[in-house]
Amino acid sequence: MNNNSLAVLILAAGKGTRMNSNVPKVLHSILNRPIINYVLDSVSSFDPEKIVIVLGYESNLIKEKIDGSDFDVAIQDKQLGTGHAVLSARGCLGNFEGSVLILSGDTPLINPKTLNSFFEYHASSCSKVSFITSDVENPFGYGRIIKDKDGQIIGIVEEKDANEDQKEIKEINSGIYIVDSLFLWESLKKLNNDNKQNEYYLPEIIEYAVNNDYKVSTYKIENYEESLGINTRAQLLELGSFMKNKINSTHIDKGVTIIDPATTYISPEVKIGMDTIINPNTYIYGKTNIGESCMIGPSVYIEDSDLGDKVEVKFSSYLTNCKIENGVTLGPFCHLRPEAHIAENAKIGNFVEIKKSKIGVGSKVPHLSYVGDATVGDNVNIGAGTITCNYDGVDKHQTIIEDNVFIGSDTMLVAPVRIGKEATTAAGSTITKDVGDGSLAIERSTQKEISGWSERRKKKKESK
Ligand code: UD1
Ligand code: CA
Repeated sequence: MNNNSLAVLILAAGKGTRMNSNVPKVLHSILNRPIINYVLDSVSSFDPEKIVIVLGYESNLIKEKIDGSDFDVAIQDKQLGTGHAVLSARGCLGNFEGSVLILSGDTPLINPKTLNSFFEYHASSCSKVSFITSDVENPFGYGRIIKDKDGQIIGIVEEKDANEDQKEIKEINSGIYIVDSLFLWESLKKLNNDNKQNEYYLPEIIEYAVNNDYKVSTYKIENYEESLGINTRAQLLELGSFMKNKINSTHIDKGVTIIDPATTYISPEVKIGMDTIINPNTYIYGKTNIGESCMIGPSVYIEDSDLGDKVEVKFSSYLTNCKIENGVTLGPFCHLRPEAHIAENAKIGNFVEIKKSKIGVGSKVPHLSYVGDATVGDNVNIGAGTITCNYDGVDKHQTIIEDNVFIGSDTMLVAPVRIGKEATTAAGSTITKDVGDGSLAIERSTQKEISGWSERRKKKKESK
């Protein structure tokens, strides 16, 4: 939806004192992703004219961790309250006139579909301000919705300012509003900080609207979890486990076997094909795609990677940003670093590290090797203990191993170096020069043999 008269404002200037942390609250993660990025995802379908994020505490650090760059930052130097935070964004919004969708950077579960319906509801109600509410079992910490006896909204009262009766109210303010911009600036001018926290409260604009006969609407949602905010580490855990369970259930419904959902962590963007089995204690994060009929884990970590069909990733393997084609077997205990590309039916075994390298179709690196900055052809066998010596302390160099090569165990390949097709390197060789097609390269000193040595030593010991 292209929306020329919608601006989005995300409030994230606070430190998050209740987290007891030096890390700004919105950078705490759920499923390995800072919570502020979930909020940005939720508004991405709106295609607003502008997105402004209000930052203050550790603003540079937060800017770095936000996905994408399609937003402006407004700085709120002192965190004087949510109303003051919105005012800090006024300069960034310039002459913008229209609706402003305001969200908190600490409310990550809000669903884009909910926001869309909320927006339609707001538009059709011709209100100056609308906001999302929900009924929650434990409303502690939230602003409560105050209504008169006819059910008409009067205002919002914060936990700290609420009296005992008001604290009993279960309908809470989600902190998600759509406000007409002209009304917003007018009402914010009237805010004061005459409350328990001496803050300029954004929710006060509701009371201002009511008192001045501007139309206010509340939009109550059934899935109350979507409206929950994170103020404490306990709430971070609670929302994290809610999101994790929901994601796991979606995969299970689509035909993935998850042996132990309690210890399986899958982030929202991950796609997994049918009949794939995910074993316990497994982490699948970022933009990862896994094909059909794969066997993953137990105890595997995969991030930002593409796996084809029938891939097996065995115990304790760690993969980041790599591409794995159909039928590949990995691990146990392998480490695939960024830009490892393993072609069809190849095998990478235990204690093997691969970085920025292509391993060709059907090739094998079964044991204890380091392959970095290399191009390995098809049907190559790399013996145990082989190392591409890619780094001379200053620059990185390439190793090229062509098709059908046999690299003997414990070969040191000092890059840059090329091993021609069908060539063999003898075990224990340090290869510093290119090897021609079909040759055997052997680099070893001649073996000496001293006969009868053991017997002589034995006698020497006995004579002592
Ligand atoms: C706020 C609402 C409350 C609502 C709840 C929903 C106010 C006064 N209260 O309370 O009615 O039920 O959210 O989760 O708005 N922030 C700034 N600058 C500031 C203060 C806050 O940018 O000066 C940001 C925070 O970083 C945070 C968001 O605004 O992302 C909300 O602030 P927070 O302190 O978490 O408000 P709550 O106490 O949760
Ligand atoms: Ca909050």
